[in-house]
Amino acid sequence: MAPSTLTALAGETTLQSSFVRDEDERPKVAYNHFSHDIPIISLAGIDDAQKRCQICSKIVEACEDWGIFQIVDHGVDSNLISDMTTLAKAFFALPPEEKLRFDMSGGKKGGFIVSSHLQGEAVQDWREIVTYFSYPIPRRDYSRWPDKPEGWIDVTKEYSEKLMGLACKLLEVLSEAMGLEKEALTKACVDMDQKVVVNYYPKCPQPDLTLGLKRHTDPGTITLLLQDQVGGLQATKDNGKTWITVQPVEGAFVVNLGDHGHYLSNGRFKNADHQAVVNSNSSRLSIATFQNPAPEATVYPLKVREGEKPILEEPITFAEMYRRKMSKDIELAKLKKLAKEEKQMQEEEWQKPKLEAKPLEDILA
Ligand code: OGA
Ligand code: NI
Repeated sequence: MAPSTLTALAGETTLQSSFVRDEDERPKVAYNHFSHDIPIISLAGIDDAQKRCQICSKIVEACEDWGIFQIVDHGVDSNLISDMTTLAKAFFALPPEEKLRFDMSGGKKGGFIVSSHLQGEAVQDWREIVTYFSYPIPRRDYSRWPDKPEGWIDVTKEYSEKLMGLACKLLEVLSEAMGLEKEALTKACVDMDQKVVVNYYPKCPQPDLTLGLKRHTDPGTITLLLQDQVGGLQATKDNGKTWITVQPVEGAFVVNLGDHGHYLSNGRFKNADHQAVVNSNSSRLSIATFQNPAPEATVYPLKVREGEKPILEEPITFAEMYRRKMSKDIELAKLKKLAKEEKQMQEEEWQKPKLEAKPLEDILA
């Protein structure tokens, strides 16, 4: 019988085949081989006119070069961060039946799910998650927010509010960098959505064969990720050719731009390609806060610089952008699966005559 959660699989010595990735998708760099390439930016003094300019230019440069950077001195209380992390860890340590009370498979909005994977894709991610749809506030459904461990709901409410504030501050900087009014990017989101995803990556028996979360770009405007000290977040450089492991920095948020942010800036700000790898020494926790536009918000460059062409043919809604992204991903996954099956068939074909030759030789002998 299949175990009900991943944590139960973590004790096995070999990886179940549903998690084994094709060779080209497997990790290239170790989870703890940290790179120092990605900028770490202090936000101390961002509200003070003199310092602001300097900080903003660092953020803008990081968005142009990488689409991913880390921020420290961001003003989110370290006690809040540590409460959020402690409570999240306590949730994943609960027995399977407690976690599965919030099971969101079957289309429920928010709750717990094991190794979610794309439709049409055979290979599963090595992770468990809890998802909260936290903004807009009137649409919150607290019945989908885990009520254990005690106090987690209140801490999550505060965490989500503080991160909304921080994300908006960063979007102000990017709006100004585009030569627009401060609120331009948040206004383009109409009524900003926020989704908090707590990722738990249990220890993995054969981490070299699998991924915690496969390579992707985030669809939304901007993402703030809190990770523990284990390591496992990887991003690409050299236009996707080289992988690096992001160095965990205590109390920092990793900020990355999503597809929406990329399109709104007409491609000036990168939507960083990233993935999460796992390891056999320790489990890992990360909390991703996705700031997304409302589904009906328009996706189209807010600013097209001189000599540039818009990177989108026509304005589309965010819902449509997301639908296209998903169907492209599903299509790619299908093609990959087909190519794999074809290769297997060819290999079998190649072996066939030899198998058939044997009885023939027997007959002639
Ligand atoms: C994500 C994500 C990376 C990580 O949740 O979209 O990229 O390190 N997470 O957990
Ligand atoms: Ni991501």
